[in-house]
Amino acid sequence: MYRTHNCGELRLKNLNQEVTLSGWAQKSRDKGFMLWIDLRDRYGVSQLIFDEQRSSKELFNKAKSIGREFVIQIKGKIIERSSKNLNIPTGEIEILVSELNILNESKTPPFTIEDASDGGEELKMKYRYLDIRRNPIKEKLIFRHKVSSEIRNYLTKLDFIDVETPYLIKSTPEGARDFVVPSRMNQGEFYALPQSPQTFKQLLMVGGIDKYFQIVKCFRDEDLRADRQPEFTQIDCEMSFVNQEDILNTFEGLIIHLLKSIKNIEVAQFPRMTYEQAMSKYGCDKPDIRFGMEFGYLNEVSQNKEFNVFNSAEMVVGISVPKGNDFTRKEIDNYTNWVKRPQIGAKGLVYVRCNEDGSYKSSVDKFYDQEDLSNWAKKTNASKGDLIIVLSGEVTKVRAQLSALRLELAQNLNLRNPNEFAPLWITDFPLLEWDDESQKYHAMHHPFTSPKLDEIELLESSPGQVKANAYDLVLNGNEIGGGSIRIHDKEIQALMFKHLGFSEIEAKEQFGFLMNAFEYGAPPHGGIALGLDRLVAILHGEESIKDYIAFPKNNSGKDVMIDAPSKLNETQLNELSLRLNSIE
Ligand code: AMO
Repeated sequence: MYRTHNCGELRLKNLNQEVTLSGWAQKSRDKGFMLWIDLRDRYGVSQLIFDEQRSSKELFNKAKSIGREFVIQIKGKIIERSSKNLNIPTGEIEILVSELNILNESKTPPFTIEDASDGGEELKMKYRYLDIRRNPIKEKLIFRHKVSSEIRNYLTKLDFIDVETPYLIKSTPEGARDFVVPSRMNQGEFYALPQSPQTFKQLLMVGGIDKYFQIVKCFRDEDLRADRQPEFTQIDCEMSFVNQEDILNTFEGLIIHLLKSIKNIEVAQFPRMTYEQAMSKYGCDKPDIRFGMEFGYLNEVSQNKEFNVFNSAEMVVGISVPKGNDFTRKEIDNYTNWVKRPQIGAKGLVYVRCNEDGSYKSSVDKFYDQEDLSNWAKKTNASKGDLIIVLSGEVTKVRAQLSALRLELAQNLNLRNPNEFAPLWITDFPLLEWDDESQKYHAMHHPFTSPKLDEIELLESSPGQVKANAYDLVLNGNEIGGGSIRIHDKEIQALMFKHLGFSEIEAKEQFGFLMNAFEYGAPPHGGIALGLDRLVAILHGEESIKDYIAFPKNNSGKDVMIDAPSKLNETQLNELSLRLNSIE
């Protein structure tokens, strides 16, 4: 038997017991006549003690030969420590070792396996398996497991069944680029890896599986960000004979269950906001509502004065920064430079200090008097001691700029408390969005999303105004899920394809299998997919998903540990009839 106990469970109550433990030698302290080794496994660390008096000479010497990360097995007796470490659960005891067995030696690891390690990012990615031995990474993986098992419990109790769908498929309609896989047996042809199981879950509804879920890998060839990986995991769900309300309630229930069972936090019913309201109040469709700073529109109270920058702007919009009047001139300058960075792209900002005596001092005092500024304060809900920041420009751009600034300010002012959870539904997304590049409308969600039935007529006259039965779940300013009620009616689907600029032949070519299936009694259905990596990270108080994935890709989409992607050899290329010159 390799072990009778694990390294995290022994306490004073186990005094005098004979135990066998196995694990990794984390570090040793050698006092000459006495030697301690910290033995670590997944569950914790136990201290081993060897000494010249109580241990045999052979054992003592063997213990001295143990290097960092050696895998060892010991037998020994639990004794009380003379100097206790109350910072760790096993800190009151140690194990007086009587037998030591080296199970495997280890090279000296390239970084220390400690909570605060000395290794750089790239090195840790290259030796990810060693990084996983460290508590911070290990705990995130365990936390992820807890979340996914609670998800399975919740959905299984509601009669959802877990069905696996294929990975070698035809392109899916989620709008990113596909990763493709060449077929050897069908030369010159390619599979695509699924961006999501979207079409398959709809086919399962036609198949009568009226409540489906799957915790499933999805693949999207898009640029990486902290909350994006090329392969990531969705909690993918679909239901039949439901309307939007049923879906929102079911998945609101799931998040409430997770917050309760995992964080012991109760949240009330989720607020809902239409896409238009979100864009107008916060300038984005995934607002962080843990803090205020809502947009105040100032066109009426700032235009037709002498200030031409505002006069010529399509939109003048501001926010009030709580206690922002404390900002120094330098801090304000830094924010001005921040919004001028190319990623944000504003030309500058206007600010108004709201003084404690009720007066205002602005960067545009030349053009606006106290009464004007007091009107701005009313529109932005600013009080004494606040700072109003105003941007102007074209509607879409200025909203995005102010929204980014709002988040940056909130981050710096510590208003984004990671222990507070503010979920929110965004509903009534536009069905279509105009794409300047292709000069065509694209489906904002995907082409099977149902328009609001009472707005279908608008498709001909003003397609951009038609709303969809589509919704997103937002948590602390992050999009953690999205879904829709699907079109199950042939004619409406044909109408959609027409407006998306698909000819009948093109639509058949790409989605013929789904359209055929829909000829055989497709039930009304809809669903949602939540990003598991994002959900887990946010529940754990972080926004970056990388460490919640056991083996993530680095910022250039590479796995530096296994060296992927990598070149194929000539034989493989020939088998796949891929010509080298077309690749190099
Ligand atoms: P959508 O494209 O909105 O919807 O994806 C659902 C959720 O998946 C997460 N997500 C990602 N997470 C990490 N890295 C990525 N690259 C990434 N891309 C998306 C997000 C997102 O909200 N088939 C539809 C769902 C449906 O209609 O039922 C879909 O895939 O949290």
